[in-house]
Amino acid sequence: MLREACGLLGIKDEGRAVVLAGWVHRLRDLGGITFVDLRDQSGLVQLVFRNIPEAHDLSLEDVIRVKGVVRRREAPNPKLPTGEIEVLVEELEILSKSKPLPFPVDTDEPRANEETRLRFRFLDLRRERMQRNLRLRHKICLSIRNYLSERGFIEVETPYLTRSTPEGARDFLVPSRLEPGKFYALPQSPQLFKQTLVISGIERYFQIVRCFRDEDLRADRQPEFTQLDLEMAFLEEPDELFTLIEGLVAHVFREAIGVELEVPFPRIPYAEAMLRYGTDKPDLRFGMEIVDLSEIFRGCDLRLFAEAVERGEVIRVLPVPGAARKSRSELKRLEDRAKELGLGGLIWAKYEHDAISSPIAKFVGEGLLRRAAEQAHAEEGDLLLLAAGPAETVAEALGTLRGELAQELGLIPEGSWALAWIVDFPLFKLDEEGKIASEHHPFTSPHPDDLPYLESDPLRVRARSYDLVINGVEIASGSIRIHRRDLQERIFKLLGLTEEEAWEKFGFLLRALEYGAPPHGGIAFGLDRLVMMLVGESSIREVIAFPKTATGACPLTGAPAEVTEEQLRELRLKIEPEVKTRS
Ligand code: AMO
Repeated sequence: MLREACGLLGIKDEGRAVVLAGWVHRLRDLGGITFVDLRDQSGLVQLVFRNIPEAHDLSLEDVIRVKGVVRRREAPNPKLPTGEIEVLVEELEILSKSKPLPFPVDTDEPRANEETRLRFRFLDLRRERMQRNLRLRHKICLSIRNYLSERGFIEVETPYLTRSTPEGARDFLVPSRLEPGKFYALPQSPQLFKQTLVISGIERYFQIVRCFRDEDLRADRQPEFTQLDLEMAFLEEPDELFTLIEGLVAHVFREAIGVELEVPFPRIPYAEAMLRYGTDKPDLRFGMEIVDLSEIFRGCDLRLFAEAVERGEVIRVLPVPGAARKSRSELKRLEDRAKELGLGGLIWAKYEHDAISSPIAKFVGEGLLRRAAEQAHAEEGDLLLLAAGPAETVAEALGTLRGELAQELGLIPEGSWALAWIVDFPLFKLDEEGKIASEHHPFTSPHPDDLPYLESDPLRVRARSYDLVINGVEIASGSIRIHRRDLQERIFKLLGLTEEEAWEKFGFLLRALEYGAPPHGGIAFGLDRLVMMLVGESSIREVIAFPKTATGACPLTGAPAEVTEEQLRELRLKIEPEVKTRS
């Protein structure tokens, strides 16, 4: 007899003999009779053992095979899809015993710390929640592949043992045995290969691909993670890509979680996002838009504000709906938080009983505060938080407060989705040493209107790049690329690379650009992040089968691990014991 799926049995099978196999999920031994919830990939079914002595030897997570007959349950369990029936067991075979469990697997809530969960990942993954996450991940990948394939994209694999690919993180290096002293780098992304593929006539490329970045880890960062990477030839305007990606994302949401998204997604220029939301990853599920009030306060009697505006700094306000009742101690806590975020202080104003009260009212007058409230679209009962300082500091601090307060006050509607494109990023930024660096990567095309300032005022140049943001998380990032060698060389030069260095690092791209490179562009999604959001988890580790801990370790396998002297010798490597390996 063939094995059947536990979770698919129902009243239709009453009276039928079946063979089932799976794990002992729950166990109740009542002496004369033993009940087991048997679990396989399809779900659970209750087994009843009567007069089968071996049933008393069963433990949780043993793997068993049984032969029995389906019968109607006297007391149905409405919580279980198979709750109307049970299987009266006639034969039991124990296929494999389990030791006592380090943590229960029959619960949605992880009952162990992360280290233990990852060390026993084979048990952790048996939990229904993890099974659901992996299944949904598979479904999402399948829907992506189908959607793109139907639109003429083909999936092409690119190498993992390669040269450094500049995405701004540290490389993972792999020493070469055949060429001692030389190293491969694991790709931070397939950026250069996908551009090469498009130049090779693969006009529509995609790949669900692993990327490697040696950076500090957070809830939404892993040293190896998966991208949905995509590139198109003859893409000259981002709009064509936006339409394709909006269709893809809407398709994935529909297929994976049955949510209908509204398209097109709003497009917000970077400068506007920084002004209105204080971040380039705005959460648009709620309002609380920051408003610039510098002009209103110019020359006012509050020296702190007037002088800030005089210095070219800004005064901005964050309206907090319904928070006018906040106590003095709560306001003090907000001020402390603002200081932690780099502001000199935070000034509050309360809009209550048709009046505005604030410690600065006596200096600036209520009329000015009323104008401020009006501009911030504040209403009766709202709190206004005002900050002065350099534009970037004020934006970032108020942006962070906006997110934290919305969370705290329960202003984020449950189950809602807000997607947006952020466009017109600057092409360059200044790095920590004050040197020009790419905001995205060096292959991003400058905005054609800004080409005249490329050398004279590089920080003013906008890029033809874009990010897709979902509920305040950066999910995807891409750009129209440079497809002319002369322009690519100008960019390398601005980034401080000599001709030799540029050739040494990116010679193969520069060469390819000389042999008929079509205009092209693309995008890459953080697939783990997308899955995380769709399944409703708050860490990407919950949607990756075998993730790393915060220190980049894999407790399951014990990686990273030491290697033998012999292996080191073959690679002509020596470990210096006293040199710290991590900075
Ligand atoms: P970028 O570096 O922005 O772009 O990466 C694209 C997306 O990948 C996700 N991501 C990560 N996810 C998990 N862990 C990480 N350590 C991690 N780093 C990045 C983010 C991000 O939006 N080659 C370009 C794309 C292009 O231009 O087409 C690139 O890699 O969701």
